[in-house]
Amino acid sequence: MTTLAGRRSPFAEELVGSAANGQRPTAYDLEQIRRDFPILHRTIRGGKKLVYLDNAATTQKPQVVIDRLVRFYTQENSNVHRGVHYLSEVATAAYESARTTVKRFVNARDEKEIVFTRGTTESINLVTSSWGRRNVRAGDEVLITAIEHHSNIVPWQILCDETGATLRVAPVNDAGELIIEEYAKLLTPETKIVAFGHASNALGTINPIKRMISMAHANRSIVLIDGAQGVPHVTIDVQDLDCDFYAFSGHKVYGPTGIGVLYGKQALLDAMPPYQGGGDMILSVSFEKTTYNALPYKFEAGTPDIAGVIGLAAALDYVSSVGLTNIAAHEQDLLHYATSRLQEIKGLRIIGTAAEKASVISFTLEGVHPHDIGTILDQDGIAIRTGHHCAQPLMMRFNVPATGRASFALYNTREEADALVAGLHKVVEVFRG
Ligand code: ALA
Repeated sequence: MTTLAGRRSPFAEELVGSAANGQRPTAYDLEQIRRDFPILHRTIRGGKKLVYLDNAATTQKPQVVIDRLVRFYTQENSNVHRGVHYLSEVATAAYESARTTVKRFVNARDEKEIVFTRGTTESINLVTSSWGRRNVRAGDEVLITAIEHHSNIVPWQILCDETGATLRVAPVNDAGELIIEEYAKLLTPETKIVAFGHASNALGTINPIKRMISMAHANRSIVLIDGAQGVPHVTIDVQDLDCDFYAFSGHKVYGPTGIGVLYGKQALLDAMPPYQGGGDMILSVSFEKTTYNALPYKFEAGTPDIAGVIGLAAALDYVSSVGLTNIAAHEQDLLHYATSRLQEIKGLRIIGTAAEKASVISFTLEGVHPHDIGTILDQDGIAIRTGHHCAQPLMMRFNVPATGRASFALYNTREEADALVAGLHKVVEVFRG
């Protein structure tokens, strides 16, 4: 099948018999999936059906994740790695088994390569603070792209300010796609590390990350992927990608908030100094000298978000049971359906028309501020995000102060895309009469 920009989609095979011929993907039990998410059945704003299209901000949680959190707190709650008593052993086993689940989910070589953090933001800050301070010097360069989330800009700016390194930015074209030739030119002998998003939260653009990684490695640069918007939509195989670091958040992939992951190659993590000091990250402490714990504990100071980790594993198991290939096909169907329906609306401009996109549609409506769009839709129970999406430089690149953004997840329906379109027609009526 062809994509928004008329090129071939990576999901083409999976979409045979679905979006390609106007039918929905088969063998995808959408009704059952929707039943798995209790919040989808509540009403809001005086009895309106909830139409939740703000999944790039955070996803809803299936009952299995909620149940797992309740079970932990009602039956297993205890601290990990610290007690010889029964509950501590149970909690530790569940926590470490969750690490194995994450390892398998991203196909890491070893559990030692999986560090639990508070989220993508903390994972990136861990790398800038620990790897960055040890390896980046005045005169070095850090390369990012023009469509990064603030969490993949600001930590690098802080590092550059502290070290005297220079931040370089690879540009995107008008569709929101990386200009690969410009990226190639910006890879110089000074480029110590390259950091880019797997998929853009604001536009949906999926970067050609495997190619970008191999180009960076050919230049002897280290690569970090901000996978916050990749993990919910695309199968991740860190060995196949050969990235050095991959960061993601639990709450974007149907897990709890406050929990995230940093995957790092073992040799790199081993050579990095601790990020934070405290309990659990040490082997021994005296006032004269402290020795640090082995991986991954060296990077997990203090009592971790134990329930969050266990809930994240439940979420990843849930995603695996539905199958990321199926999820991707369903979301691509919604993306293409909603994109074509939105084009019916006069004055609506889609910002971000990359050939490869995750199920995110950013748009502006002539003469209407995005916040007004969001407020009017909300009165009908439709939740979208409006604003700069923590990507202000990207908004400047497209010369807009803000956009409306509808982002679809595994449980969304074409009927919900229709509701969005109907809501936007209403917005147009309010503003244009
Ligand atoms: N990064 C989140 C978003 O895109 C909060 O909405």
